[in-house]
Amino acid sequence: MKGDCLVRMKEIPDKSVDCVIADPPYIMTKRGKSCSPNWMPDNMGENVFDGDIPNFYDWLFLCYQKLKNDSHIYIFTNTVSLQRILNDATAIGFKLHNIITMIKDTNMPNRWYLKCCELVLFMRKGLAYPINDMTSKDWLHVVMPKQKDGKLHVTQKPVKPVRMFVHNSTPLNGIILDPFMGSGTTGIACLNTGRNFIGIEKDDNYFSIAKNRILTRYNELQRGIK
Ligand SMILES: C[S@@+](CC[C@H](N)C(=O)[O-])C[C@H]1O[C@@H](n2cnc3c(N)ncnc32)[C@H](O)[C@@H]1O
Repeated sequence: MKGDCLVRMKEIPDKSVDCVIADPPYIMTKRGKSCSPNWMPDNMGENVFDGDIPNFYDWLFLCYQKLKNDSHIYIFTNTVSLQRILNDATAIGFKLHNIITMIKDTNMPNRWYLKCCELVLFMRKGLAYPINDMTSKDWLHVVMPKQKDGKLHVTQKPVKPVRMFVHNSTPLNGIILDPFMGSGTTGIACLNTGRNFIGIEKDDNYFSIAKNRILTRYNELQRGIK
């Protein structure tokens, strides 16, 4: 769906979604920017980080409404937004299960320890139920998408962790919602695991990038390409 998730999510029936995977635009503080290396594009802080950052409470509240009872949500976050997301999500009724750490093969300069990890809050709505693969660890090494390999979005996530989340928290043919679709990583994870996908993206360019990427993967799978 193209548009603002605060608007488009309202079209989804309540309690119809098996799992939410959300990678919201991050807040970057001045200190983050002030130590940005010179290889960062000048506009990097404007489009994705400083633009219209939707209020955490508002979109989390809609996610809660759309999720079925006894379901899971995964929220990518940095340390700057961690506390606010946790506070808002908890106030809405989500309960924290775990914080999953992605150990990246890249790092970001930072004056208070080099940033090598990204965090994913794993929370639930309603009663607790176990994940499908209980051997899954709460940390994993990931290879971040690179420009030279055709990276499509400035904050594109690798498919591997998202695939694990989708597999672990939904049944086959389950419905996964990603309110901040970006380049469509969650859509690819859903195709690869036989799940249904609802993605929302407000940026026209990223929306068509995601659509093409998902269609390309769909055609590959139709031709038997794993
Ligand atoms: C952190 S990126 C997601 C990247 C994605 N996980 C990927 O792997 O490509 C966040 C995305 O949310 C989009 N966005 C920001 N505010 C939005 C809103 N209110 N509704 C829908 N999309 C929004 C941005 O355009 C951006 O593409």
